[in-house]
Amino acid sequence: MQASEKSAFSGVSPLTFNDTVVRQFSIMAIVWGIVGMSLGLFIAAQLAWPELNFNIPWLSYGRLRPLHTNAVIFAFGGCALFATSYYVVQRTCQTRLISDKLAAFHFWGWQLIVVAAAITLPLGYTRGKEYAELEWPIVLAITVVWVAYAIVFFGTLAIRKVRHIYVANWFFGAFIIAVALLHIVNGAALPAGWLKSYSVYAGVQDAMIQWWYAHNAVGFFLTAGFLGMMYYFIPKQAERPIYSYRLSIVHFWALIFTYMWAGPHHLHYTALPDWTQSLGMIFSLILLAPSWGGMINGIMTLSGAWHKLRDDPILRFLIVSLSFYGMSTFEGPMMSIKTVNALSHYTDWNVAHVHSGALGWVGLISMGSLYYLIPRLFGQTKMFSIKAIEVHFWIATIGIVLYIAAMWIAGVMQGLMWRAINTDGTLTYTFVETVKASYPFYVVRFLGGLLYLIGILIMAWNVAKTALAGKPFNGQVPANLAHA
Ligand code: HEM
Ligand code: HEM
Repeated sequence: MQASEKSAFSGVSPLTFNDTVVRQFSIMAIVWGIVGMSLGLFIAAQLAWPELNFNIPWLSYGRLRPLHTNAVIFAFGGCALFATSYYVVQRTCQTRLISDKLAAFHFWGWQLIVVAAAITLPLGYTRGKEYAELEWPIVLAITVVWVAYAIVFFGTLAIRKVRHIYVANWFFGAFIIAVALLHIVNGAALPAGWLKSYSVYAGVQDAMIQWWYAHNAVGFFLTAGFLGMMYYFIPKQAERPIYSYRLSIVHFWALIFTYMWAGPHHLHYTALPDWTQSLGMIFSLILLAPSWGGMINGIMTLSGAWHKLRDDPILRFLIVSLSFYGMSTFEGPMMSIKTVNALSHYTDWNVAHVHSGALGWVGLISMGSLYYLIPRLFGQTKMFSIKAIEVHFWIATIGIVLYIAAMWIAGVMQGLMWRAINTDGTLTYTFVETVKASYPFYVVRFLGGLLYLIGILIMAWNVAKTALAGKPFNGQVPANLAHA
């Protein structure tokens, strides 16, 4: 509800939501976004100018890279997902969160975990598993906090005042359950000291478990939860019902079923049995269909209201994020084809693919949703500056294009140079020659990243101005007028 609408509701008994936790997570999403992207920019600079390692171990690329990925995925992405899921579940269930105390525990516990990551990773404590680097005491802490989140979310669903469970909650729910499963299975380890442990799996099984985890971290942490955002915030901002509710249900079941099998595409041409690799490839190709079904459902929600894209920059964030989602979910299945992967694997093509998903899809949909939320969380009708949202949108979009175009070119070039062979069978290029040839593209990627970071800094200024102009507002919406 907007502050200006308050008077219209007077005299009707209010339904109070817990928006304190939504506000806290929203603000921290922006704070961690700035931290994580600054780290991304720093490591991008190190790849172009390696002297920036300064010969200091905790500033070295190898330690800061996992800090970047943890910060952007789990701190920035996580906080955005928690904020939006708590906001959406309360509105669509017409009820307050089942426990304020557990929600607060979730918030403070998660911040502590992020701080623990920010200390241990630069010090070199790591399990060496990508996106699951944190050592076992932190793994246990994550488990406890995640259980608290699950209790609050599903508990709130259980006490809902409406019979129907809106599809956004299905996606948030799947995200919570799947991440719990992945975390427990891939986190299983034998401690060998306070900050050292060994995976309980060995050899190729360990690799398979790790990439089953990591691929589904993409599928459920970086995709399913954000699709939950899409299904709530796009219809809200566009003021149109979702294009097809039936398609959203098909989308949901097809997506969650298919994602689970695609992990082996990360292990093509390894010791993993050949049939497993082929199975992973086939499921990745099938994954194109539900992914595009979801994208089409989101974009077509605008049918009959395309003109809104012209003058609503928030809607533009949301819709353009879907275009990047479509792009990366087309590219992913192509890269999973073994012959294509033979070229793309180990190259910067991967990094281009990752960041078209990360900056384009995850970043833009989070920012669009936060622009929707922030004024409402501070009793304002709109953000302090619409012009600044517009500028942010263009800077971010140009930044993404520079980043991914540079990495695509560098990636394909690297792949082709590595496999080039002279007539006598010797390699045409040394590895160092491919590194030298990549240099200009690393500089362009740095510039793209810089633009993207400037964009979120503009957002932080706009959010601070909006928050200061209003005051914390707990969405007291009368039951009969509440957001659905
Ligand atoms: C200013 C924005 C950003 C910049 C400049 C940036 C830069 C980088 C760099 C330089 C790398 C290492 C690439 C390599 O090892 O060759 C990287 C990796 C990665 N980044 Fe970012 N990043 C940014 C934002 C993000 C965001 C918002 C996300 C996720 C939501 C993200 C997710 C990742 C992931 C998952 C990897 C690992 C990729 C892989 O292993 O292939 N980044 N980033
Ligand atoms: C239909 C959907 C998708 C499929 C089939 C797919 C497939 C792939 C493939 C084949 C790779 C390269 C594996 C390798 O050679 O090592 C890859 C890497 C990756 N993809 Fe996707 N992708 C999809 C969507 C996405 C989206 C939407 C995101 C981000 C939001 C994403 C994030 C990543 C990341 C982070 C990696 C790098 C993993 C690593 O090596 O660290 N993918 N994906």
